Amino acid sequence: MSDALKREAARAALDEVRSGMRIGLGTGSTAKHFVDLLGEKVAQGFDCLCVPTSIATECQARDLAIPLTTLEEIDSLDLTVDGTDEIDRDFQLIKGGGAALLREKIVAAASARMVVIADDSKLVEHLGKFPLPIEVNPFGLAATQRSVAKVLSNMGATGGLVLRKSTDGEILITDGGHYILDASFGRISDAKALSTALLEIPGVVQHGLFIGLCQQAYLATPNGVIQLSR
Ligand code: 5RP
Repeated sequence: MSDALKREAARAALDEVRSGMRIGLGTGSTAKHFVDLLGEKVAQGFDCLCVPTSIATECQARDLAIPLTTLEEIDSLDLTVDGTDEIDRDFQLIKGGGAALLREKIVAAASARMVVIADDSKLVEHLGKFPLPIEVNPFGLAATQRSVAKVLSNMGATGGLVLRKSTDGEILITDGGHYILDASFGRISDAKALSTALLEIPGVVQHGLFIGLCQQAYLATPNGVIQLSR
């Protein structure tokens, strides 16, 4: 997806923000555009209070002087705007390509509404082409990997399980101090059942399936931005 399209999706989502809103700020290259554009509004006097979903987004928002808060200081958010790796017609998502899925899910779950911004290549008939990120505790990694592999095999996964590395070749460590396993499925036929099975594994902290959290999507195409609502 071109950067220009990402920005158009982000710009369209600005229609969602109202003065005084408490807003969750997503993570990734598309969400980065939204934060940029919100920063421009804040510089013009727009009033909002935001919770970032990663250290990277927090740094960006601070640089733009966007007022920040935490879920300790407020108990809910009006809106979260975030990118996605996949979205299906039931508004189920795969997220976590940027390794921020845990905070992203906590923030989305604390929000009255979650709006996704992406290009229309992220819209899929069936989730699973993008490997599912699974955030795990480093303790007992091998045991967790075996349990996850068993669930994947029971759920019909066609590919493997890979421990995510960062660009320097070291094991990637999330903002929460965890690891990410990327699980290749091919096609996820029952996202809810997969979610439940994964969360029953003690070493699994969270996974990138977002079910029932997203209400709206702005999907950029070369011919304009499509709005989908649930
Ligand atoms: C980070 C995410 C991102 O929102 C997702 O990976 C999409 O990123 P991008 O906008 O760069 O394509 O889930 O954990």
